[in-house]
Amino acid sequence: MHLRLRTCEVRSWQSNDLESLVKYANNPHIWINLRDRFPHPYTTSDGRTFLRNIRSQRPETAFAIAVGHEAAGGIGFQLQGDVERVSAEIGYWLGEPFWGRGIMTEALVAVTAHAIATHGLSRVYAVPFAWNGASCRVLEKAGYLLEARLRRSAIKDGRIVDQLQYAFNP
Ligand SMILES: CC(C)(COP(=O)(O)OP(=O)(O)OC[C@H]1O[C@@H](n2cnc3c(N)ncnc32)[C@H](O)[C@@H]1OP(=O)(O)O)[C@@H](O)C(=O)NCCC(=O)NCCS
Repeated sequence: MHLRLRTCEVRSWQSNDLESLVKYANNPHIWINLRDRFPHPYTTSDGRTFLRNIRSQRPETAFAIAVGHEAAGGIGFQLQGDVERVSAEIGYWLGEPFWGRGIMTEALVAVTAHAIATHGLSRVYAVPFAWNGASCRVLEKAGYLLEARLRRSAIKDGRIVDQLQYAFNP
């Protein structure tokens, strides 16, 4: 998969992305906004394991966001099952030096459309922590609608937090 966008490229992860993946993923400002399955500190071994697993995954649902020659971040979706097999949850992160350039908004628009077209989805959703103003703004700019505040629904770094549920329906 390879989407050439204005600010970045969204493409398959490559084994030579390891160095830039670890360089940008190993950041507490990113980890604090993600699920705990995203490791911190993010080691070379974590990166190697991620790339090995992701490169054999079919269907391919996780992609690198490339800026120049580097993998600057990641975006992926989880296809749901059973009666929710028309839905997918999307998640994403970007290396801190690249924030504020519109990169994630553009990547999110493109991958949302790709997920819907490839998997026949009727809904793509995201569940950021309520404190994550930048991610909420990205979702709104990409056409997602706020559906709900999931009060005290998660724990991150020892703190019980509200989450906000956003969805995109084609
Ligand atoms: C959230 C994240 C993906 C945004 O990526 P990005 O490429 O910087 O996003 P964009 O440049 O497309 O848009 C960012 C928008 O958020 C706004 N913003 C930034 N900080 C903000 C804040 N604290 N509160 C509200 N809005 C904020 C920016 O002004 C911009 O909006 P604008 O274009 O209207 O000015 C990036 O910061 C990141 O990876 N954060 C850590 C991981 C994460 O939060 N992932 C999402 C988990 S749900």
